[in-house]
Amino acid sequence: MPVPPDESALLADFEARIAAGESIEPKDWMPERYRKQLTRMMSQHAHSEIVGMLPEGNWITRAPSLRRKLSLLAKVQDEAGHGLYIYCGTETLGVDRHELNAQLLDGRAKYSSIFNYPTLTWADVGVVGWLVDGAAIVNQTVLAKASYGPYARAMVRICKEENFHKRQGYEVCMVLAKGTPEQKAMVQDAVNRLWWPSLMMFGPSDTNSPNSAELLKWRVKRKTNDELRQRFINLTVPQAIALGITLPDPDLKLNEETGNWEFGEIDWSEFHAVLKGEGPCNHERIAARQKAHDDGAWVRAAATAYAEKQQARKSTVAA
Ligand SMILES: [Fe+2]
Ligand SMILES: [Fe+2]
Repeated sequence: MPVPPDESALLADFEARIAAGESIEPKDWMPERYRKQLTRMMSQHAHSEIVGMLPEGNWITRAPSLRRKLSLLAKVQDEAGHGLYIYCGTETLGVDRHELNAQLLDGRAKYSSIFNYPTLTWADVGVVGWLVDGAAIVNQTVLAKASYGPYARAMVRICKEENFHKRQGYEVCMVLAKGTPEQKAMVQDAVNRLWWPSLMMFGPSDTNSPNSAELLKWRVKRKTNDELRQRFINLTVPQAIALGITLPDPDLKLNEETGNWEFGEIDWSEFHAVLKGEGPCNHERIAARQKAHDDGAWVRAAATAYAEKQQARKSTVAA
């Protein structure tokens, strides 16, 4: 989009600040495209945290021990906190969270495609922590250096908690992988189902990612989708080897020269189908969020009534 003449100086200043590594704060001037892209990206992230509570929350009542229940409960609560930080961060861009929630419920906003897959066994809780939170860490560590201050600062705290999520998941996998043959088979089965969807979490290849170039230029993103995916794979393959688990990709092999684990073709048609709403759990996830929204109506009504009462009291005192 061409920039109107009076904005070109502002834009030059904005881009110079970003190039100098300064962070952009809510009251600073920013191009509308930057605001729009950030709002889209941050709200998508916040929705992913909240929807991401659902597949694992499903297992809290069925955790195999008190210790497992406590750590899973803590993890799922953390995800609620992550959603709230990021909704607050998104609000600093001038959009109300009621609007963001409405966009999630009516399908205008997206969330990470991985949460549209079911968690079929207890091993899925381990594998989600290991792979999905592991992928989230790779993504979010880089976002902690994003140019928008409120987003970057939220990521610093979130990453610390994600490390705990990944460890609890990996530990669940480790115990099962060293357990009975049936337990080990459960981990293998969960990895077989969740490996490829985890790789899709980084988004389409850079050559097909319409938003990447602009986000990179403005340092909202600091690495490309493909770079992050490769980093995740390089970190994860040795962990799978340590578990004695096979990753479901016959083409996976170490390139001695680059140090990268090369991998097979990702089925992007599956990714696009899931994004379009055709994943195994899309309807269930949105129905659960809609129910939570409806069940919370009395809380919102009570909070509004309370705020009005406080306001009326203040006006009486002032008069
Ligand atoms: Fe999270
Ligand atoms: Fe997490």
